[in-house]
Amino acid sequence: MHGAPDADDQEGTVVEIATTPPADRRFAVSLFSRLRTAKGQANPFPIYAELRSRGGVVAAPWGGHLVTGFDLCDQVLRGREWLEPDTRWREQQGDGTRWTAPSSREMSRTLPALNPPDHTWVRRSAGMFDRTSLEELRGTVEQITGGLLDTLAERLRDGEADFNALVSEELPVATIGHWLGLPAADFPRLRDLTHDQVFTQELLPSASQLALSDAATAELRNYFTALVRDRRAHPGDDPVSRWIAVWDGMESDRDKTDEAVYHLALFFLLAALETTSTLLSTTALLLLEHPRQWDRLAVSPDLVPAAVEESLRYDPPTHVISRVASRDCVLGDTEVREDDMVHLMVGAANRDPARHADPELFNLHRKPGHLSFSGGIHYCLGAPLARLEAQTLLHQLVRRFPGLTLVRRPSWAPRVAFRRLLNLDVALS
Ligand code: HEM
Repeated sequence: MHGAPDADDQEGTVVEIATTPPADRRFAVSLFSRLRTAKGQANPFPIYAELRSRGGVVAAPWGGHLVTGFDLCDQVLRGREWLEPDTRWREQQGDGTRWTAPSSREMSRTLPALNPPDHTWVRRSAGMFDRTSLEELRGTVEQITGGLLDTLAERLRDGEADFNALVSEELPVATIGHWLGLPAADFPRLRDLTHDQVFTQELLPSASQLALSDAATAELRNYFTALVRDRRAHPGDDPVSRWIAVWDGMESDRDKTDEAVYHLALFFLLAALETTSTLLSTTALLLLEHPRQWDRLAVSPDLVPAAVEESLRYDPPTHVISRVASRDCVLGDTEVREDDMVHLMVGAANRDPARHADPELFNLHRKPGHLSFSGGIHYCLGAPLARLEAQTLLHQLVRRFPGLTLVRRPSWAPRVAFRRLLNLDVALS
């Protein structure tokens, strides 16, 4: 039984060594040290290609396995024998590990860490972004996007501007904040807390990153439990009030109901911010780096949805999704034991040459196919909203700024699973 390294591990150091042969272990340790740097994040794909060259399933240095093949990742996401690392699994890893840190315990009670049957009814209670609710949001997203691009236009008049800070970091928090009915004054703090909180969901968080995540999680708990209390006292036409009504109909204990609704509200915010910001900036970056595709989009805006899908395939916001085996089994030609963790390297899988011809080419005319919103029962509930934001932004961007250019390559946060651009400096040619 193996999880990722303990909270006490220092950056770049892996202490828990499993039965991996020494040469493979050295290879994987060096590979992850490189991935966890800003340089590795600026272009992780050659590193993934090295990993793939060792086979579809490679032993992780801390135990468990790394999976790079598209079909194998897809098989795991859809297979019933693969589970989320839930509360039971995390407790089994023992006290003092990253899995029993307060932030990890809190995450284990949110939707993406639940397994059936709990997952089934919590997911059902969450509802979906159906066509009607998306249409209601469309006008708001268009309006917010227009306002942000007005600010961008003003800054560009004076020279270069940071698209990431002015647009990509703002649109998702304003959208989900509007949807949840949160005050705009709270948006900057919620965004900062989300950046810290995500460390507990990273592949290899350091002890200091986990401490940041624990503190952010505690503040977010206070914020969202107060929100649920307020909505219970003053119900309105918003998702939190609707979740309270749904849960009151399923559970007679009010404390349990409010706790369930708190976890939904918390996770919807966490899920919606960084991921979507990364998608918006990455899509803009890829198009500016491929000026012919950018020009094509300017004359054929009907290619916008294809551009968003190709960006999701080419460099998704989330590069790793993890599962644990519910029983001993064989994955590809590798034996996996019960409770072993597998890390699905979806950033690598999306470029599996067995799935896509010329996978390194950014090509708007490609047949779609990516695992960037996961698959199976945990398929991202917010995918329609993320697509709406990205497509709306892209439509307005090519129309208003056909002469946009990249000033310099952006910097990336030194992570592995959750991609984050730190800037995206643009100018008008
Ligand atoms: C580009 C943006 C986004 C990306 C790349 C993304 C990616 C993902 C991935 C990979 C998962 C599954 C994790 C797993 O299988 O363990 C997931 C789940 C989820 N996402 Fe997203 N997401 C995005 C935006 C959003 C937004 C905007 C929302 C909400 C408004 C959202 C809500 C959720 C929820 C509720 C789940 C849990 C589903 C479940 O476990 O049943 N996501 N997302």
